[in-house]
Amino acid sequence: MNSSENILDSFELIKSIDKSGMLSVVEKFPTQCKEAAKIGDSIKISWDCSSLRSVIVLGMGGSGIGGDILKTVLADELNLPVFVNKTYQLPAFVNNESLVFAVSYSGNTEETLSGFDEARARKARIVAVTSGGELKEKAEKLNYPIVKIPAGFQPRAVLGYLFFPVIIALAKIGLIKDKSDDIHQTIELLDELSKNYSSSNPLDKNKAKQLAVDLFNQIPVIYGSDGLTDVSALRWKCQFNENSKIPAFNHIFPELNHNEIVGWERLKELNEKFSLIFLRDESDHSRLIKRMDVTKELLADSVGNIYEVWTKGKSKLTKIFSSIYLGDFISVYLALLYKVDPTPVERITLLKNRLSET
Ligand code: PA5
Repeated sequence: MNSSENILDSFELIKSIDKSGMLSVVEKFPTQCKEAAKIGDSIKISWDCSSLRSVIVLGMGGSGIGGDILKTVLADELNLPVFVNKTYQLPAFVNNESLVFAVSYSGNTEETLSGFDEARARKARIVAVTSGGELKEKAEKLNYPIVKIPAGFQPRAVLGYLFFPVIIALAKIGLIKDKSDDIHQTIELLDELSKNYSSSNPLDKNKAKQLAVDLFNQIPVIYGSDGLTDVSALRWKCQFNENSKIPAFNHIFPELNHNEIVGWERLKELNEKFSLIFLRDESDHSRLIKRMDVTKELLADSVGNIYEVWTKGKSKLTKIFSSIYLGDFISVYLALLYKVDPTPVERITLLKNRLSET
């Protein structure tokens, strides 16, 4: 074992780099999801939803990804469109027949607050999901339902708190069928995966640590399938950016077959620094499975390496969370290999501070 790999099996070394304890937060994610489900169960909303025509989730970055998951999970089930709004303005269709979840962990994200104000002006029904800040204040003043979640974490580390109450709320108001079984199975699987990927499981038995070692000094490019693992690919990319502090990119099958595969033809030396990760699922469309197999063959000599990761579980929800969870662990282990504290996101803080000056 070389010295950098050694880091991942040393409790002392991990503690000295992961000063703010991101790894432990990731390890406890299943417990967070259980608590989040309880928060969801305690929500009291008794609206008549028969007039609703759209569901909108407002949220940026770590607070927006829950909306992306929701949209993906509900695509085959909900008869209304789910739209994830990641900017200041809302699309024209948002009106008094829209249900809007305004999700901001800090409660102070200006794009989300701007969307909230527009949604209010258009008389949409609004639920705020936040730990506090201006969003909580505004929602309280206007008597909108608030899903209050615990403060003191990084937004990307509280995906459970930000996501599960929203999907449970949708079931409660009767827009979708009860999701308890899927949620229960997801949490059970996460519990099992947490043991497999956690720091106490050594490198030779730990897939998350092994992939982190493989990806060290590489730029990850994550490919998912449209309508399922595309959302996990986005989460992997963002977690590599924020936890590991490295560039990472994502794209989607089959669209990437119509452009990106050509882009790997030249710049051979540079391309050696990129590793592709295909997030795969057994129930992907048969043509997608074929496309991924052929793409893997075609690109084998064009990039540093190609890895495949298969989802686990039965429901879409479980599959998505199984692949997200592996990526979360890998991104933290990679941070440790780079000897960087995964928690702080200085540039985001700096940028927000600069923007608040004007
Ligand atoms: O991970 C992060 O810190 C960011 O992506 C934030 O989630 C994003 O800036 C939005 O902030 P908030 O989650 O507080 O609304």
